[in-house]
Amino acid sequence: MKNYAIEKEIDELLSLMTLREKIGQLNQVMPPEEDDEDFLQAIKNGEIGSIILASSSVAGNGEKKLSNIDKLIKYQKTAVEESRLKIPVIYGRDVIHGHNTVLPIPLAMAAAFDAQQVKDCYRFVAKEAARDGVHWTFSPMLDISRDPRWGRIIESPGEDPLVGESVAKAVVEGFQGDDLAKEGNIAACAKHYIGYGASEGGRDYSKTEISDYNLRNYYLKAFKSAVDSGVQSVMSAFNEISGQPISSSRYLLTELLKDELGFDGFVVSDWGAVEQLVRQGVATDKKECAELSVNAGIDMDMVDHCYTDYLERSVEEEKVDMAQIDDAVRRVLRVKFNTGLFDNPYPPEYEIDFEANRQKERALAADTMVLLKNNGVLPLRKDKKVALIGPMATEQKSMLGSWTLDGLPGEVVTIVEGMKEKAGDNVNFYVPTLFDEQFIALLHSDIAVLCLGESCRVTGENNCLAHIEVPDWQVALAKKAKKSGKPVVAVMSFGRPVALEEIEPFCDAILYTWHPGTMAGAAIADILYADTVPSGRLPVTIPRCTGQIPIYYNAPSSGRYANGYYGEGLNYHDCSGRPMYPFGYGLSYTEFKYSTVSFDTDALSMSQLEGGEKFRISVDVENVGGYDGKEVVQLYIHDKVASMTRPVRELKAFEKVLIEKGKTKSVTFEIGLNELSFYNADKNFTAEKGEFEIFVGKNSYAPLAGTIKIV
Ligand code: NOJ
Repeated sequence: MKNYAIEKEIDELLSLMTLREKIGQLNQVMPPEEDDEDFLQAIKNGEIGSIILASSSVAGNGEKKLSNIDKLIKYQKTAVEESRLKIPVIYGRDVIHGHNTVLPIPLAMAAAFDAQQVKDCYRFVAKEAARDGVHWTFSPMLDISRDPRWGRIIESPGEDPLVGESVAKAVVEGFQGDDLAKEGNIAACAKHYIGYGASEGGRDYSKTEISDYNLRNYYLKAFKSAVDSGVQSVMSAFNEISGQPISSSRYLLTELLKDELGFDGFVVSDWGAVEQLVRQGVATDKKECAELSVNAGIDMDMVDHCYTDYLERSVEEEKVDMAQIDDAVRRVLRVKFNTGLFDNPYPPEYEIDFEANRQKERALAADTMVLLKNNGVLPLRKDKKVALIGPMATEQKSMLGSWTLDGLPGEVVTIVEGMKEKAGDNVNFYVPTLFDEQFIALLHSDIAVLCLGESCRVTGENNCLAHIEVPDWQVALAKKAKKSGKPVVAVMSFGRPVALEEIEPFCDAILYTWHPGTMAGAAIADILYADTVPSGRLPVTIPRCTGQIPIYYNAPSSGRYANGYYGEGLNYHDCSGRPMYPFGYGLSYTEFKYSTVSFDTDALSMSQLEGGEKFRISVDVENVGGYDGKEVVQLYIHDKVASMTRPVRELKAFEKVLIEKGKTKSVTFEIGLNELSFYNADKNFTAEKGEFEIFVGKNSYAPLAGTIKIV
């Protein structure tokens, strides 16, 4: 909703600004390493609208801590006291999944299937970051991805649009709070708009090939959810889609994002994504890059100076309209007003209860972990002797995951520490000097817990893998452990889904922990010893081998019997077509029994749906096992006949419910016009008459519960 008082203030400012000052608001720069008179002068001249607190374009691969807060205050003081119009600068930083306290990687958070818990954690992340002078974060990352080779899949919500929507809302609301202007809240940024997760071959920065039909039905929805949740900014992606770089696409940035979705914040380019139009081959020089980008709808230019260096001339030459510049400036100023920067330009001062934050992080981390296999060996008993073996047992840095600029690896609880805290001397661990020394512990133990995983340095930006199988040497550890005849539990701390076919036969249990954040080892021990019952579910399919990629659950049906749903009807000579573990999958220590699903009606007319009526679909879920536990109840639809092919299953609703042992909970889902609609060939979001199958259950293989009709 428009805030007319703010718009009036912006009108006034705009009427006073020179073209140079306007372009200054669209300019984001890095701060100088050393103090620099030229830099301060540029702020005084109103030539710097934003400062990015990052060390390089791939800042997430390093761990550069925030620069001295006194400097941030000094630059801001210069802007608000010494520049002509006293417009504050906005500080942006990659606060991606935590600040001092590091949350699990975003893909893991999607596995929690619990928006409230994620939002609650982002509330304290915002507070930690705001106190350090951050006004604006480049998060949430909302790139749907089906390719675990792509290192950035760890930042993504996975393969499902509904999960993407839910994460988008949770993170935006977590960062921004109810009132963005209140201290401790920071502006969010939905990125990377759009299609970046479809990088060809999983190669970062590669081209993407996405039809408008698939773009809207798979990739757009999370961004729409962020916009509907009031996200203040959107970052444009590096990639091109079907021949059109995003940075020069007026269709994607202005027509679709701003006009159609109604986004009224500003679009910032990704790092150097304006000048890269030359390398992409659609511009001859940086001046043309600036013109293409600003005209397409990129409002702020991240670090490549194309706007400050050339846009004045472009306006004079009438290559860029003044109205375009004014619109961009208006958007940037709007966010500065919304964040309360004009009234409170300096970092707030308050105490932070870091211990409370760590405990919330621990609870979330435990709830993101997915129990993939369990032959009854888990949970562990504290009176049994456990041998900890493997590379992640004492790992700290990689347990934080990529993009953790301000988290301190030294504060991470290791698996050894977390386990010893619970079971003391019954946890055997030898710091090895030679590869096989860890196995000595197994001689004196009842059970092997293999701590496997990958370095965060092979995940994240520009860190892709051609092979996503568990590394051979880690499979060898599992084989060797299995040979001992003792039960083997694999604790797998990978950032991305990895192919598990090779290792699975040697494991009696597999717990997939992702990179879990600051309290990693404590959360893992909570699950292994059943202080927390596992409740994470896969937000992304786990393949058997690299060659199955892309494999995702929400695909349309083939016209032939082979290559049916999710690879059923074998289509490889050398591998099953089916996934190793399907989307939505995850086990518990307790057992949930579903009652027959009931429908309040099986048919509604289009006009009833348009009037807001919905199908109410209910199921009772009984906890018949031995533990209190959380279940993720999932509802999928299949639009049987439509004008376009539709996915054989699409997640349309889910609810995570805590059910005490012996108790039953009733879950009711409402399915209305929104859930039954899709973007058709004419780009209209619409439902079509006909029959829809409804599946309710524990994962994307949920059984058919009945059908509903739009008549
Ligand atoms: C490049 C990355 O693609 C983006 O995600 C990040 O926010 C910027 N660098 C800023 O560090």
